[in-house]
Formats: sequence, C-alpha cells, structure tokens
Amino acid sequence: MRSAELDEFVEKVSERTDIYSVVSQYVTLSQRSGRYWGCCPFHNEKTASFSVSPDKGLFYCFGCGAGGNVFKFLSLIENISYFEAVKLQAQRLGIDLPKRNSSPEQERRRREEKTLLKINELAQDFYHECLIKTARGEVGRKYLAARGITAETIETFRLGLAPEEWDNLLRKLTRQGYTAQQLESVGLIVKRRTLSGYYDRFRERVMIPIADVFGHVVGFGGRVLTSENEETPKYLNTPETVLFNKRNLLFGLDKSNRAISAAGAAVVVEGYMDAISLFSAGIKNVVATLGTAFTPEHVKLILRYARKIIFCYDSDEAGQRATIRALPIVQQAGAEVFVIKIPDGKDPDEFVRKHGKEAFEELIKNAATLIDYRMNYVLANTEHSTTQGKLRALQDILPVIVNVDNPVTSEEYLKKIAAELVLDERRVTDEYHKLLKQKPLNEPKKDSAIKKPKTYSEEESRIQMASEEILRMLWHEADILDYVLTVLPKEIFTPYHREIITWLEKCAEQERRPNKISAAEELSEEANLELSRILMNGSDEFGKKEVALFEESLATLRQIVLMKKFYKLKAQVESPKDEMTYNETVKELIKIKVKVDNLKGNP
Ligand code: UTP
Ligand code: MN
Repeated sequence: MRSAELDEFVEKVSERTDIYSVVSQYVTLSQRSGRYWGCCPFHNEKTASFSVSPDKGLFYCFGCGAGGNVFKFLSLIENISYFEAVKLQAQRLGIDLPKRNSSPEQERRRREEKTLLKINELAQDFYHECLIKTARGEVGRKYLAARGITAETIETFRLGLAPEEWDNLLRKLTRQGYTAQQLESVGLIVKRRTLSGYYDRFRERVMIPIADVFGHVVGFGGRVLTSENEETPKYLNTPETVLFNKRNLLFGLDKSNRAISAAGAAVVVEGYMDAISLFSAGIKNVVATLGTAFTPEHVKLILRYARKIIFCYDSDEAGQRATIRALPIVQQAGAEVFVIKIPDGKDPDEFVRKHGKEAFEELIKNAATLIDYRMNYVLANTEHSTTQGKLRALQDILPVIVNVDNPVTSEEYLKKIAAELVLDERRVTDEYHKLLKQKPLNEPKKDSAIKKPKTYSEEESRIQMASEEILRMLWHEADILDYVLTVLPKEIFTPYHREIITWLEKCAEQERRPNKISAAEELSEEANLELSRILMNGSDEFGKKEVALFEESLATLRQIVLMKKFYKLKAQVESPKDEMTYNETVKELIKIKVKVDNLKGNP
C-alpha cells in the first residue's frame, strides 16, 4: 500500500513542476501552434518530431513513440526509476522528501553501511601509503613502472600494495576500534580454518580499489607481483559482500563518467588493468567489468551517460566469446553497439602501450557494427561450405538482423549475407521473414518506452482512430463510460486501450478522478504511453465538433462490431447445420443489416 503522505508528496512536486522548463534543460525547444517542438533526445533525428505540451503536462515523440509525463521524461533521460525521478525533481525544487519512518533496525543498518564504507576507505589509504611511502612498497613501484603506469595514474586510481605479512591490516584497523566481524564482512580478512582468529585476505599484491559510481570504495582487486607461482590466482577480488556486487559495478565509472558523456560513448574492457592503462593513455571514456559477464545492470549504468557502447575485449577466444554473449543484452536495452577487435597484442593494455593513444582512437573510429562483427564471427567459426552448414550459419546470423529497425539497413545486410554464404538472396530473405514473424512471440521487447509506431491494416487503423477519439472523451468525461460500454463490447478495443478503459472503470468505481500521475503509476508502461500519445494528439476543447467526432467514432466501432457478427453468421448460413438454425440465423442477419444501415444513414 502506498501511504497518503507519499501520494501527497508526488502531487506536490507535480503541481510545482513545469514540464517545459524541465525538458528545455535537455532539449532545445521552439514554439509552434501552442506546443513546443525539438529533436527527440531518445532517438537520432534531424527534424523535430518531439513535442511538449505544457498545458497537458505531457511530452510525446511522433518519431519513436516515447512519451508520458514529466517524471517519465526525467526517468528516461537520466536512466533512473520513476520514483527516483520524482525525488530528483523534488530536490531541484527544494521540496523536502517526506520523512522516512525508518525503523530502528533500518537506522542501524544504514549506520553500519557507513562504517563498512569507512573501513574500505581506511584500507585503501593503508595500501596506498604502503606502496608510495614505505621501503616495502619498492616491489610494487617497480612492478607498476615496468607496466608503464605513472605516479600520476597511481594517484588517480589510488593504487596500493598489500604487504606480505599475514595480519598487517587486521592489526591496524582493529587498533582503530573496528571489529574483526566488520573487517570480515567487507572481505578484507578471512577466518583461519584450524586455529582461531583471522588473517589478511590480500597479501603481496598490487591493490586496485574498486568504487561505485559515487566514488565510494566498495571492494578491491589484487594482482600478484610475479607470474612464477602458478598456484596463486593472478587476480584476487573481494568476494560478494553487502557492498560489493559485481553484477552492478563497473570499474572506473566514477572517474570516466564525464568523459563518457562528452564522447557519447563508453569503451568496455575486460580487465581493470586495461581500463587503467587506457585511461592513463588519455582514452578516458573507459570502464571494465570485474571478471564477470556483462549484465543488463551494466548497460543501465552506462546508458545514464551515453547511448553508444564499444566493446573491446581481449582478442583471444574467451574474450571473443564473451563479446558475442554480451551483444544481445546491450542491443535489447536499446544501446548502439560497436566492437573493436584488437589486431595486434592480446588486450587493450598491450595495444595502447605498444601503439599509443592515436592508434587506439583509430580503432574506435573503425569499430565494427554489431551486425558486421556478429557476421564475421559466425563466418569464422562455422563450417559453411556445405548447404547444411550455410543454413546453420544463416540461423546464427539472422536473429541479429531481425532486431534491426531500419528496413534499408536490414536489406543491405541480407544481401551481404547471401553473398558471403553464397546463398540465393530469395532464400535468405524468406528465412528472414519467417523469423521476423515469430519475433514478437519469442522475445517481447523489454524497453517498450522507446519503440517504433506500428503499422495497421485498414480495419485496425479505423478501430485505432475511433478508439482514440473515444478515449480522449472518456478522459475528460468519465460519466459517459457506462454509456460507451453499453453500446460497445470491450473486446473491440486493442489490449492497451482495453487496459486503459478497465482502469478508468476502476477509478470511477473508487470515485476518484483519473490523472497523469495515477496513470503512470497504475497502468502498464505500454498503456500509459499510449494514453499520453492519445491525449497529446487531440484538442483540449470540448465543443460541438469534438462531440460530433466522438459520436462518429462510436458509430464506426459499432458498425465494425456488427459487421464482424454479420460475417460470422453469413458463414453459418452458407454451411447450415439444419433448417431451424438456418432460419434463425437469417432473421438475425437481417436485423443486423438494418442496424448497420441505420448507422450509415445516421452517423
Ligand atoms: P586477464 O587474465 O585478461 O587479465 O583477466 P589482464 O587484465 O590482462 O591482466 P594483466 O594484464 O595480466 O595484469 C581479465 C579480468 O578477469 C578477472 C579480473 O577481473 C581481470 O581484470 N580475473 C582474471 C580474475 O578475477 N582472476 C584471475 O585469476 C584472472
Ligand atoms: Mn593484460
């Protein structure tokens, strides 16, 4: 249940918010016919099809279909949740958040989290001082120098060294009043297996602090100094803790987010050493995953700053396989994907050290598109000399093409595939269309806020247009809902329209007026989007003309309902079961015919 206080808060923020002034901070708008227009920030376009109506408090893009109220806009453009958008706007307006009635337990947990972050920060300082100030740090300094890492980079990333003793950190931090349990819970120390007590997890390693987007240190990576000992793993990471969750952390993002915004793109590498190396070479828009697969959470983090993601994993087989796995995740989230394959040297770190910044920038410029990369990968990794092999390869490539929205581009690719595989173009196109038909069933598109307008059959588009008029009227005059539903069955409406109507019914039952905010909260994404679009499209006046349009729409739908029935009965008449039902059906048919004629004569 939502508290009344919270409702009041959202209401208050909404009332004081002017959608024009919010949107114009992100988009250049100009006025035309009572509305503001600009180039849509959610898809690439040169002519303005993105519009804002301050009176209605709504935005809608006629190009990509993104739309909704001001909080929806903020949540899309900042890549935050709906409620986070409300809070953000409240902050900007100086409206206090409603006091959280946190329980003593919640309060305790918040304090504890603060303490744990403090412990990590102290550990970072300890390792860092050890590296740069002590004699023991010499091995670490030498190691980093040999890798071409400068003193400046060491400072920027606060790199450190964990000394070889077993309990240096443990002793230091417990002396400062922190408990062994606390140190263990952030992964800095480990319980001894036989004896009682603990020991430092990281020893004799170069230490790389890992921070969240805000720059809070939440964990560490430690690299061995020598590669002699095959038994110790090259890298040791903080285990999963309350603070450290690899699925939603990207190394370096706290430092690179500005550069990512400025460049409009993020370079994603596999290892933090790669990220550090690129960053210090001057490629600053870089982040690294932490030895895990690329997740939808990672995409979301990046999309806060840029829409373009350039993968640059190791050129070995494991790196390439990881790239292939990451691609659909990113494509589905609506990001633009490119791939760099390092031509010389195993990883980005080696490449940039050998060839320098400009050479790497050249790689970025020439990065392959998702589809080219995928196609080359399949061609290189499947046996496609036989017909069977060709078809298998085709099945591997086509799913990527199906996700391409631009028909010109997909056609180009289909030609290219046919040529590469030496297959008949018709065959390739046929297989493509087969797959295209299955698509909506196989994978409902996740990010429905940004999607292409549909194409309709003639009848569907008549239903669509008439329903829009009716819904617009219902939004303003909830009282006529009963009337509409007595003359029309709900089934005639499309699923989203039906959802809106059912919701309006619910509002009426509960005697509350529907508004933009409750719509955004209670309707599905898609239905809310559709409602925004409908409300944006029509006029706000309700005079004779609008009423006439409404009546006409009602008649149109009524006619479609009757004609559907008519054709169904007609089919029954043409293959009758027996005399009785035949006569009944004919009578029924005539009745319908009269009704339809009446409708036509009297729209
Ligand atoms: P790589 O083996 O590619 O290391 O692992 P690298 O980045 O090239 O490191 P250098 O140049 O040899 O120092 C890539 C990532 O995989 C994880 C780490 O996150 C690393 O950054 N990894 C690797 C581990 O967690 N443990 C390991 O033993 C090895
Ligand atoms: Mn490396």
